[in-house]
Amino acid sequence: MATEIVGNKKACVIGGTGFVASLLVKLLLEKGYAVNTTVRDPDNQKKVCHLHELQNLGDLKIFRADLTEESSFDAPIAGCDLVFHLATPVNFASKDPENDMIKPAIQGVLNVLKACGKAKTVKRVVMTSSAAAVSINNLQETGLVMDEKNWTDVEFLSSVKPPTWGYPASKTLAEKAAWKFAEENNIKLITVIPSLMAGRSLTLDVPSSVCLAMSLLRGDEFLMNGLKGMQMLSGSISITHVEDVCRAHIFLAEKESASGRYICCAANTSVPELAKFLNKRYPQYKSPTEFGDFPSKAKLIISSEKLIKEGFTYKYSIEDIYDQSVEYFKEKGLLQV
Ligand SMILES: NC(=O)c1ccc[n+]([C@@H]2O[C@H](COP(=O)([O-])OP(=O)(O)OC[C@H]3O[C@@H](n4cnc5c(N)ncnc54)[C@H](OP(=O)(O)O)[C@@H]3O)[C@@H](O)[C@H]2O)c1
Repeated sequence: MATEIVGNKKACVIGGTGFVASLLVKLLLEKGYAVNTTVRDPDNQKKVCHLHELQNLGDLKIFRADLTEESSFDAPIAGCDLVFHLATPVNFASKDPENDMIKPAIQGVLNVLKACGKAKTVKRVVMTSSAAAVSINNLQETGLVMDEKNWTDVEFLSSVKPPTWGYPASKTLAEKAAWKFAEENNIKLITVIPSLMAGRSLTLDVPSSVCLAMSLLRGDEFLMNGLKGMQMLSGSISITHVEDVCRAHIFLAEKESASGRYICCAANTSVPELAKFLNKRYPQYKSPTEFGDFPSKAKLIISSEKLIKEGFTYKYSIEDIYDQSVEYFKEKGLLQV
């Protein structure tokens, strides 16, 4: 059992409209936490309606805040014991990743950490990083095992500029900036490093990461190419259930002995291996079987041994992740029943 480090249990979740953050808010409320969450536009009903529904579960307050506004996190973080920072600018099609993703991601985490310092009540900050901040490099070897010691090679990304390079660069540089600020200002920081997530979402829109994970089953050519691009750039297709990622956030926030970075990854595979698995389990959807000379095996695996050694257990296997995502997509009319 996790040792709880909080007394009166008040948590702030930055970026409540998001896929992961909204489920984290729900799990925190169900555990009895009072929750403050921040959104960019509280009047955007399409983006906040699920948060209004969650207000039936407990004490949930919604605040307006933007990553690029220096003191907009002061009010939501004041009086909180725990802060979970999940918001990040995502724009894969950006022509100016430096200004659209990299700068606001760094500025955002520093603004959040500054507010944590000012609050004087925050016992721990949990920042959501990404496997994209760990595994991207120019190494040609195979059979690599990536763990928390590994960092994505930003020099490689910014010189070669492969498609979508701005996102992994922003995640890596924001996490590095967070560690530097936290160490210099004595803030207790933990970073959670999830792989691609799937599972149900509370949000009205279906999250793009679940669409990516489901692209083989839907035969979505554009996103299947995105998935292949992910394997070529990141070295693997690594998948985790969103609920396990949220459970890991809470587990690490409450676990006194936790420190540093933690990879959260349930399964490592490749596009061709995943397609084979999906074809066998859901033959009615006809995932592709031919991949030509596309690499059949992943170059690396992302290891979450550190998280498991800390005492965390995953609830969902790859079978569970896809069974739930298939049901979710059927309900949304995105897969045939
Ligand atoms: N989903 C995955 O598979 C995956 C995998 C690894 C890591 N992660 C990480 O997990 C975290 C959550 O991801 P997600 O999939 O839940 O993302 P998401 O659904 O796209 O949510 C992103 C959130 O960031 C907010 N945001 C963007 N720019 C902002 C700004 N300038 N100021 C304030 N808020 C801003 C968005 O608010 P608006 O609603 O106002 O746009 C939204 O709430 C992110 O840090 C992501 O990098 C996700």
